Amino acid sequence: AFVIGEPCVDVKDMTCIEECPVDCIYEGERMLYIHPTECIDCAACEPVCPVEAIRPAQHVDEEWKPFQESAQQAFTGIGSPGGSTKVDTPIPDTEFVKTLPRKED
Ligand code: F3S
Ligand code: F3S
Repeated sequence: AFVIGEPCVDVKDMTCIEECPVDCIYEGERMLYIHPTECIDCAACEPVCPVEAIRPAQHVDEEWKPFQESAQQAFTGIGSPGGSTKVDTPIPDTEFVKTLPRKED
């Protein structure tokens, strides 16, 4: 699966959502989350993010790892809805994301 990391936090460009053929990118309050099992690894989202916030799982390093775990936690309550249009968005952020420092512009 692909993973969204820190550059998305408080930025939420949203272009990635339009690219995903299976609608598995879910909007949260402060960032977006890719559903770890609904993602079919099509990779369409990765190049369109203007802040390079999206990486494939095999490129997840120490810095990205907490975001990979966070994305799993983001869906523990809602399971696998089969697409972001099936749930009310934004979904609640994870505790990890809630505690990240605010990015000012
Ligand atoms: Fe975030 Fe980039 Fe998508 S900033 S909302 S991952 S296009
Ligand atoms: Fe969608 Fe990106 Fe996965 S476009 S299927 S979230 S690789």
